[in-house]
Formats: sequence, C-alpha cells, structure tokens
Amino acid sequence: MREFVYYSRSAVTAGNMIKDNLMQAGRMDIVCNVIISVFFISNKMRDDVKLHLIFDGPPHAPRHLVLESNEEMPISKKNVAGLIKRMLYKSKDEEGLREICPGCSIERKSFEKLIKDLDKDGKDVLLLDGKGVDVREADLDKHPVFIIGDHEGFPKEKKKFLKKIDKISVGPKVLFASQVVTILHNEVDRKI
Ligand SMILES: C[S@@+](CC[C@H](N)C(=O)[O-])C[C@H]1O[C@@H](n2cnc3c(N)ncnc32)[C@H](O)[C@@H]1O
Repeated sequence: MREFVYYSRSAVTAGNMIKDNLMQAGRMDIVCNVIISVFFISNKMRDDVKLHLIFDGPPHAPRHLVLESNEEMPISKKNVAGLIKRMLYKSKDEEGLREICPGCSIERKSFEKLIKDLDKDGKDVLLLDGKGVDVREADLDKHPVFIIGDHEGFPKEKKKFLKKIDKISVGPKVLFASQVVTILHNEVDRKI
C-alpha cells in the first residue's frame, strides 16, 4: 500500500462552499489535481493506494478525508470535486471514520493527530521537502507514507511539528503538489 497525506490550510470544510470556481473554495482545484495524480493512470486507476486529505479551511476545520483505491469508488476525473462535496455534506463533527461511499470516508481529525496515528501504526512516514534526501537514494519501505504540503507549503506550527520526520526530495525544483505525486509514483514504480 502506498499512502499520501496532502495538507491544505485553506480547503473549505462545508459542501455548500464548493461551487463552480474551485479556486475560491480554498484552492480545491489543487486538491482535485492531487487526487487525479494519486489515483489515475492512462485508462485505469491505480490499486493499493490511499490518500489522506486534511482540510483546515472554514467553517468546520479540521476534516480528514480518506480515499482508498476501490473498484466501486464512484470517482471520475471529470467530477472529483463533486465527490469531495458529497463527502463534506455528509460529514459529522466527530472523530471516527464514517464511510460515505465505497473507498471514501470522512471524520473530524487534525493533521497532527493523523501523523501521530500513522506513526503509531508503524508506518514509514516521510515528508516531501526539496531539502530532503534524494528519493533515488532513499531506502523506501514497502508501505511508505508521503506527506505533501499545499501551494503555500506548511504553516510555521506544522513545520515545527514535522521537524523530526525524515525528509525526501524529488528534485531541485519546487513543484506543484500534484507533480510531486506523479514523480513519486514513478520512482516507487521503478524500485519495485
Ligand atoms: C507547491 S509546493 C509548496 C511551495 C511553497 N511555496 C513552499 O516553498 O513550501 C507544494 C509541496 O510540494 C512538495 N514539494 C515541492 N517541490 C518538491 C521537491 N522538489 N521535492 C520534494 N517535495 C517537493 C512539498 O511538500 C511542498 O510543500
């Protein structure tokens, strides 16, 4: 299983705030690009992939959305935002994942709590950072968890929290989060 955590400081946390302009929904356009890069390859979906999304925008932050590859997941490249909207509409203000549709769950959980839980589960959690160890030189676990920041990177307090996490880099340029996902998938595909 390959896992990704995408943190968005601004992504909205209520379904009715997702309208036609996804940029105005706390850069939900970027979230959609990340989802597409995590799950889609030409003509099919990747299997054995899990994506955690943390939305820290108004009005009900934090929300933890989990998408896990599943043949019955009702996802289409054309309507990724529709799926997120549906999940947010059905979310409750409590911890404990609530399945909204096959492979799609949501709960109230903070970024810090999620990372601590993944660590407690013994996962090899890695932070994507241009100053990290080159992914080509890294000895990756079979089930890595990759943490990626939003268009502004991580806020100060999150950076402080992430200080002790091992960092890996995919190259010398600062890339879009969705590009980082594509490169990571490719690097891991080539290693196995
Ligand atoms: C658009 S970038 C963030 C840019 C932001 N201005 C900053 O400097 O952090 C989004 C995320 O992609 C990841 N990222 C971007 N380029 C990377 C690289 N070359 N290697 C590893 N991670 C990278 C980081 O996790 C970053 O938070």
